[in-house]
Amino acid sequence: MPAPAIPPAAPALPYLPFTRPTIDEATISGVAEVLRSGWITSGPQVKAFEAKLSEYCGGRPVRAFNSGTGTMEIALRIAGVGPGHEVITTPLSWVATSNVVLGVGARPVFVDIDPVTRNIDLARVEAVITPATRAIIPVDLAGLPVDRDRLYAIAKKHRLRVIEDAAQSFGSSWNGRAIGSFGDFVSFSFHANKNITTIEGGCLVLNDEREARLAEQYRLQGVVRTGYDGMEVDLVGGKFNLTDVAARVGLGQLPHLAAFTAKRRELARAYFEELAALQAGQLGLQLPVADFSQSNWHMFQVILPEKGQSLKRAEVMARLHAAGIGTGVHYPAIHLFALYRRLGWKDGDFPHAENVGRNILTLPLFPAMTRADVARVATTLAALLPNPRPS
Ligand SMILES: Cc1ncc(COP(=O)(O)O)c(C=O)c1O
Repeated sequence: MPAPAIPPAAPALPYLPFTRPTIDEATISGVAEVLRSGWITSGPQVKAFEAKLSEYCGGRPVRAFNSGTGTMEIALRIAGVGPGHEVITTPLSWVATSNVVLGVGARPVFVDIDPVTRNIDLARVEAVITPATRAIIPVDLAGLPVDRDRLYAIAKKHRLRVIEDAAQSFGSSWNGRAIGSFGDFVSFSFHANKNITTIEGGCLVLNDEREARLAEQYRLQGVVRTGYDGMEVDLVGGKFNLTDVAARVGLGQLPHLAAFTAKRRELARAYFEELAALQAGQLGLQLPVADFSQSNWHMFQVILPEKGQSLKRAEVMARLHAAGIGTGVHYPAIHLFALYRRLGWKDGDFPHAENVGRNILTLPLFPAMTRADVARVATTLAALLPNPRPS
């Protein structure tokens, strides 16, 4: 009797990270040219990048920085926010959002999120405004824009500055207008995970040339140069300038923004379809807002069921990792970090943010993914959910 045929080993599927940048060969060659040019830190590439960003932002002044954290800190300094002042923001963000407030000596005032959008609940903002309030920092979590009409109505009524933490919403829009093309200060991040990247970096959209000049001063040690040899320093600046190498990466990314956003929306739609087919709702999975016109789908995030579920989030992540699927947590509630607890916040202060912070899970989403990748993630995740957790 012939030996039974040994079935060929199934080829292992490649590891799917939760995000991955797409950088084309022209950009890679462009970076090599900058490296060979002899001018590698801030110079002509930064100027060209700023000009393109300004074009994208409807002609508003834009200055490039080495991070989307520095942009916000400098916006606060330009707005004159400092000790004795309060700044309203969300507890569900990357901790940079509130750290910059502490960094300038002011106090963050957190407002709980709307559990549907996962963004700051604007209906609760007016109740926390005091004579010390100077600014609001809204965050477009995962790229879903905060309601700009309502936000600016509140800011105008109470004469508050707005620093839009649009780190995640480059490419998003509000009522047909690109985020960044209107409003007060708008801060973008170009960190490696963002929809377009400069590896590390960011930019700040400003209101006028006076603010732009201040941004340049704060960006580099407070220095103002005049003529061939003039130099003056009249404020304490820092070291926040972007390199030409990084700016060249950004210049190579910008032309792809529209296609990247379109692909992200297509993949997000695929997640909704695949998860609906798997009856994600019955499994207790909460999905994001199905916005395919304004959000840039920086991330696709689900909220895992907490009650009646046998697996904790870390176990779900570990099993997905073992199946070759990367995930992330964006983010734990800020006010429960040790630093913030020491400043007086505690469990129960912002229940919606806390619930989301405990159970949110970022699934893979980046332009080079395929529909089959989405189906693989959805199927693998759904298979981990059905066991009700003994209470
Ligand atoms: C919401 C939010 N705010 C601020 C930042 C800070 O940006 P960067 O890492 O460029 O300093 C990030 C980046 O992760 C972010 O996601």
